[in-house]
Amino acid sequence: MKPSPNPSVLLAVMVLLFAAPAFAQQNHPILLGTAWYPEQWPEARWEADLALMQQAGVHMVRVGEFAWSRMEPEEGHYDLDWLDRAIAAAARHDISTVIGTPTAAPPAWLTQKYPETLRTLEDGRKDQHGNRQQFNWANPKYREMARKIAEQLAKKFGHNPHVLGWQIDNEYNEVSFDAATKAQFQQWLKARYETLDNLNTRWTTAYWSQTYSAWDQIPIQTGYGNPGLLLNWMRFVSDTWRSYQRNQLEVIRANVDTRQFITTNMMGWFDGFDHYTVAQDLDMAAWDDYVGQGHLNPERNGAAHDLTRGFKQKNFWVIETQPGSVNWAGINNALAKGEVRAMAWHDVGHGADAVSYWQWRSALSGQEQYHGVIVGSDGTPVPLFSEVAQIGKEFEKAAPALANTTVRSEVAILHSYDSRWAIQWQKHNKNYDPVEEIASYYAPIRAIAQSIDIVPPTASLAQYKLVVAPGLNVLSDAAAKNLMAYVQNGGHLVLGQRSAMKDDDNALQPQRQPGPLGELLGGRVDQYYALTDSVPFSGDWGSGEGGLWAELLSTRDADTQVLMRYGKSNGWLDDQPAAITRKVGPGRITYIGAWLDPKTMQQAAKWMTTTSGVKAALGGVPEGIEVSPRYGAQGKVFILINFSKQPQTIALPHAMTDVLEGGEKQSLTLPVYGVAVVSAKKD
Ligand code: GAL
Repeated sequence: MKPSPNPSVLLAVMVLLFAAPAFAQQNHPILLGTAWYPEQWPEARWEADLALMQQAGVHMVRVGEFAWSRMEPEEGHYDLDWLDRAIAAAARHDISTVIGTPTAAPPAWLTQKYPETLRTLEDGRKDQHGNRQQFNWANPKYREMARKIAEQLAKKFGHNPHVLGWQIDNEYNEVSFDAATKAQFQQWLKARYETLDNLNTRWTTAYWSQTYSAWDQIPIQTGYGNPGLLLNWMRFVSDTWRSYQRNQLEVIRANVDTRQFITTNMMGWFDGFDHYTVAQDLDMAAWDDYVGQGHLNPERNGAAHDLTRGFKQKNFWVIETQPGSVNWAGINNALAKGEVRAMAWHDVGHGADAVSYWQWRSALSGQEQYHGVIVGSDGTPVPLFSEVAQIGKEFEKAAPALANTTVRSEVAILHSYDSRWAIQWQKHNKNYDPVEEIASYYAPIRAIAQSIDIVPPTASLAQYKLVVAPGLNVLSDAAAKNLMAYVQNGGHLVLGQRSAMKDDDNALQPQRQPGPLGELLGGRVDQYYALTDSVPFSGDWGSGEGGLWAELLSTRDADTQVLMRYGKSNGWLDDQPAAITRKVGPGRITYIGAWLDPKTMQQAAKWMTTTSGVKAALGGVPEGIEVSPRYGAQGKVFILINFSKQPQTIALPHAMTDVLEGGEKQSLTLPVYGVAVVSAKKD
């Protein structure tokens, strides 16, 4: 008989399998990197830059992403030897390379020879050479050219031991409104709806005589148009970015070692395409994390990290971030001394396995001369260099503790692009921002739970004690089924404002909100109101007031409990339910119809987490201390950062190893922007 495996060994192996980075990052599990553009400098200068990078603890350079004119100076004549030499030179300094395909910046000869590859703006004008992203992402000729250069790169560097992975293109963004793309969209609609009758019905085109009798009558609409058409244009945009990416990804994958990852750089809350669609084919998610004007908002930025981690539901990279300041904000202030380091650790706390600065050194000319850098145009360190070097040292020190660790959460927030778009197109209150709505829930819940996942509504939810859907406006049948099963199996689902109003075609659900979830709730939204003035409310979460939006709720079932009621306002809302909840077997479903002020939201968050049995990952800490746990086979690591305005002392629940400073600590004192990394063995 086969001996049964030891369950704790099995668990350890499973944790390792789940957490281990699939790609070659073993030597430096937490990487410090920088964007480097060797093509902008004489080769004789490379050595000095690389030596400085090594001094700063940089172990990864990101190269190539805008160097197409250097890689292919004329059509079909490829020159990649300089890149080979740059990669080898970096390797001599213990620096690995990530190669970016250069397709965000097509060379002038390409645009001149194939003008059809230029994108058409919405007003019908053609874009032009001289910036970047001027290409048409749906154009077959552009794709042919992009595939060829990606293939050349993959063939040349696919087995290079110093190449860690690939970034396809750069920040997918601009789309094209030309006639050929419109025809592709119409074909895409045909594949989705099969018949015009079906499309006409699902979009209610009887309204305003929109009925289509031929596919080529269907226009492109953005912003104001038929809700079904608007949503499907964005889905087409997303699918077209996915196929644009696949076009390169396939030739890369066919020519490179499996240890080399393939990613692209996303942009946090940017909603120009559905990131869940585009991320499907990638090995790992990565994003460009810029503060711009002002200072790091750990909740807002932390949520963007958690969002990015949710694209693949595993660790990710911060593949670009600002060394101090940017050049594109209203006021390009520098982050305060210590803030760049705090931000780097904040990234790692939320599941980043690499933090890479954009950029090493500014080009002498070009559009970004004023952007933050690590060394100046003279090639010597700027003041921030020493802080970056400190990060480098600390990443090395913490590497053994952080290797193969990942984030795990008891709470999930549901996020969907369909819902965000649907609300953006019909805000009904011009000040209504669906990302703000997510943030209003995220901040107080994260402060209690100390970890949150942000995932799409069709993700597997079984591991969560609490699932919050702040603005799930569009609810597909698959998502509805998933959420119902979650509640029936014992989960607690909290729905926020504007939930479950629309179906998969952005049409109104035939039932009042929350549509198919109303049965479980034993109640519904009787009416929604856009507000000019705040409305008061009171109940189990104390009393407060909320602006923007209020939903008048009603209960149908005797066991649906009213948690909060509106006070005196427009008459309709007076004394009516503002939040209701119902126990459903072992689970629970709650609906919050008011925009809660921060104090009331804090009480609501306490109630949500307590009712669901959610525990703090570490335990109580002073306000302004961000705690982020990462878990591995050997135990837990906590990253603590002081984002408050004064020094703070934190009492740990038990003695832990101080990873950065050494020794066992029972308490920690952190200055403003101070960071501690502590670890505890598995208990
Ligand atoms: C990013 C872009 C980089 C650089 C940077 C400046 O959006 O990917 O190439 O332009 O902004 O902040």
